[in-house]
Amino acid sequence: MRYEFPKNFLWGAATSAHQVEGNNHNNWSEWEKKNAEKLAREAKTKYAKWQQDKFPEMFDPANYISGAASDHYNRYEEDFDIAKSLGHNTHRFSVEWSRVEPEEGKWNEEAIEHYRTVIKALRARGIEPFVMLWHWTEPIWFNNQGGWATLSSAAHFERFVRKVVSEYKDQVKFWVVVNEPNVSMGYGYYVGSQPPGKKGVINLIRGYTNLFFAFKRAARAIKEIEPSAEIGVANSVDYYEVRIGSFKSRVFSAIVAYLTRIFLRASLSYCTFLGVNYYRRNVISFPKFQMDATKRTDLGWEIFPEGIYTILMSVRKHGLPVYITENGIADGDDSRRPTYVRDHLAQVARAINDGVDVRAYFHWSLLDNFEFPDMRGFWPRFGLVEVDFKTQKRTIRPSAYEYAKICKENAIEI
Ligand code: FCB
Repeated sequence: MRYEFPKNFLWGAATSAHQVEGNNHNNWSEWEKKNAEKLAREAKTKYAKWQQDKFPEMFDPANYISGAASDHYNRYEEDFDIAKSLGHNTHRFSVEWSRVEPEEGKWNEEAIEHYRTVIKALRARGIEPFVMLWHWTEPIWFNNQGGWATLSSAAHFERFVRKVVSEYKDQVKFWVVVNEPNVSMGYGYYVGSQPPGKKGVINLIRGYTNLFFAFKRAARAIKEIEPSAEIGVANSVDYYEVRIGSFKSRVFSAIVAYLTRIFLRASLSYCTFLGVNYYRRNVISFPKFQMDATKRTDLGWEIFPEGIYTILMSVRKHGLPVYITENGIADGDDSRRPTYVRDHLAQVARAINDGVDVRAYFHWSLLDNFEFPDMRGFWPRFGLVEVDFKTQKRTIRPSAYEYAKICKENAIEI
């Protein structure tokens, strides 16, 4: 059966500045230099044997240094040509705060012009820009003042957002204020496994609260500068399932879902759309859930397309249009990505059919990049386009063509 997506559906891919641009000087690049050796040693215990055998790069400290990344800062024209050829009509990227405001209160005009050219390059190709304002990285001065653990952080962020929105408001309609607050606060302020490496419940609460204040001030500022702007958050909403006996399981699954959606719920009244990042199902059980090896990604995440349907149905009640701001798979040999894309989009189609107002799908990611959540580094390959990090050569993967067919036809065979 052929399923037609709604007219004007947006099809594209997402990236983030630090993961693709290269040569950033921010809180992450500092952290990488300090921690690369340690991370390479820890790979022995952090990853399973099959992953270690398949991706020995994880034992090389260079894997944990973003360096030139995918050199997208210089190659964005070439990359957008590829996106256009693949039928994308939208693209999500982030503006790097540390480039725009390298010193507190001082704007770097060159960087501001750079992103203006990036936005124009997208528009010239008929690609709608979605601009992310905070995809986890910050200027070093901001971090030296305590990052999100400090009360002044919200005012700093608001000033940056005001500047960026005022500069580009004529060319940009869609603003995504923050990316996955729950994941970044979890790893960065509770577990301590990514910058700024803060730990414990107190830091988590402080970080979360200030980030929320910052978001609120930023969202209000955007509305004030451009009342017709579309505003959202890219929320990580993976599917959680707790298995500890039937009734209790449902209660605990609901509790986990509730906790991971605190920011989502609190942010709704400031947003005009709801961003959903969905990757996998997490089964929490004792004894440990044994995943079918044919259903796991290179990161060991379970491939579970029905999960995106369940998640979409669960956010329908909020009454906002839904944009799938991320969905993708670490799959170095591209053996599972074609099916992953198709199966997830079939579930999206099903959700639309059942009444969810989904308006966009961004695949994560356009390019192979520096996979920075939890400091994983270069070895997990998320790109529709393969990047040879030594030569920066781009090679379009078969899955990209599979996805392109759906984008171009605005339809899927299910
Ligand atoms: C998400 C991040 C994104 C990317 C994917 C794989 O948590 O938002 O930057 O790395 O995971």
